[in-house]
Amino acid sequence: MKEKILQLLRETDGFLSGQEISKMFGVTRTSVWKAIRQLEEMGYEIEAVRNRGYHLCSEPDFLTNERIREYLDTAWAGHPVQVCDSVDSTNNEAKRRAESGASQGLLVISEQQTAGRGRHGRAWDSKKGEGIFMSLLLRPDIEPAHASMLTLVMGMAVRDALEMTVRDAQGMTEREVPERIANKVPEMTECESPDVQIKWPNDIICSGKKICGILTEMSAQVDCINHIVIGVGINVHNQEFPEEVRQTATSVYLETGTHICRARLAARCMCQFEGYYARFLETQDLSGLMEEYNTRLVNCGRQVRVLDFKENYTGLAKGINAEGELLVETEDGLKCVAAGEVSVRGVYGYV
Ligand code: BTN
Repeated sequence: MKEKILQLLRETDGFLSGQEISKMFGVTRTSVWKAIRQLEEMGYEIEAVRNRGYHLCSEPDFLTNERIREYLDTAWAGHPVQVCDSVDSTNNEAKRRAESGASQGLLVISEQQTAGRGRHGRAWDSKKGEGIFMSLLLRPDIEPAHASMLTLVMGMAVRDALEMTVRDAQGMTEREVPERIANKVPEMTECESPDVQIKWPNDIICSGKKICGILTEMSAQVDCINHIVIGVGINVHNQEFPEEVRQTATSVYLETGTHICRARLAARCMCQFEGYYARFLETQDLSGLMEEYNTRLVNCGRQVRVLDFKENYTGLAKGINAEGELLVETEDGLKCVAAGEVSVRGVYGYV
């Protein structure tokens, strides 16, 4: 019953009276009221006005296998999808699955993580329902030394997916979101491009603040890769952040004022990744992608401070090379900075 009422509310622009609904389905008004209560408990926002009836204001953002598959237009990335309610870390879960023989393309995605990890051994804030926490399993036949380039490939994919999502969301009201998603209305193209960029090597930035982080982990022998797991954490519905990252973190909601559909954003990331990954495999390095990458790179042309375990220096970031290293012009000449344990900051702030 509640599914039928929900469908009816979705198809109705204004209000629908309890009497109309009860007549339509041949049930009592009390049963209608009970079904509406159940929908509200599930997270649907329904306005009830005396003498007018019910109006659907917004829908909850469910992250289910079915919803992701509905949007997933890929040949292999995201096949299969494993959706978890809670997991220690999606990277750990993908690795466990890889060790038991899972094949390339498996996507593990979770509503929350109890031990989400970031780079440099930091924790990744992974509260229920707030973000996208997902990990993609790859088994590429490439040199282990080239694996870190895949962080940059995923960075390009997530940046594109976020740009499309922010652009869509900026062009619609909250009420329109589920309708547009349900009808799969094509992307809007007329708005100005939103400011979504890559901060080398593994952050995606929106309006100068971090909206996504990427953590790539590998199991390999000296000369061959067993598997690679690329973990992606995107801040989606967060309305606030812990004190220590408040100045540098943002979310899709904070940027757009809209609660977007996480399943669709995750699917978009997979779709974009598949395209870039195919181009990466042609040369097994970034020579075919670096020009495009550099146009999206927030560090390009900026003074940066490079911090690694042995030195700390500043210089002008010039872009990446085909190996995915950041080229930094310093007083001592041009340095090629490899991702590894290095950290790059803007001289005047986070970027
Ligand atoms: C960083 O910016 O430090 C990288 C953050 C990566 C977080 C994601 S969330 C999904 C996956 N599982 C984890 O434990 N970490 C990554």
